[in-house]
Amino acid sequence: MTKTLSVSAIQNGTVIDHIAEGQALKIIRLLRLLEKKYTVTVGLNLPSKRLGLKDLIKIENHNLTTEEANEITIFAPLATINIIKNFEVESKVITSLPSSITNVFICPNISCITLSEPIESFFFIEEQGQKIKLTCKFCEKPFYRNEVKVNL
Ligand code: CTP
Ligand code: ZN
Repeated sequence: MTKTLSVSAIQNGTVIDHIAEGQALKIIRLLRLLEKKYTVTVGLNLPSKRLGLKDLIKIENHNLTTEEANEITIFAPLATINIIKNFEVESKVITSLPSSITNVFICPNISCITLSEPIESFFFIEEQGQKIKLTCKFCEKPFYRNEVKVNL
């Protein structure tokens, strides 16, 4: 059986696959891919056996740092990150959830100082079973990941 790709194969670079639907554009902003002028192709709402629908990002001639790969897991815990060399998958990046994140999320606590002062947000990150918990360093309130909006 021949396998056709809805987004072309790349020669060298990084493929972020199995991104939960709706998260690719946030990841593009998180990684500042537009500002960096990389050649990027994006697939949105692609059919996936595992996820139903998935998003996918291909970045040509650039390998993500470990820190960037880890930050992606806050948006897409099931994403697979592949390093491509000469059209072959050279390696799959092993990611782990980062322990904190600066200036990406907005504290949902309306009394939090980060909303009234020009302070970069800072959240501690923990895994709680299948869920991701974010705790604001400033007001110390914990939130589930889906309760916290991004500032990207
Ligand atoms: N890919 C690509 N360009 C290449 C080789 C691979 O864009 N030259 C992409 C594939 O389309 C896929 C991802 O890189 O989205 C991973 O490739 P591969 O491991 O071959 O895919 P799968 O067998 O689907 O692996 P997995 O399900 O483990 O991600
Ligand atoms: Zn707060």
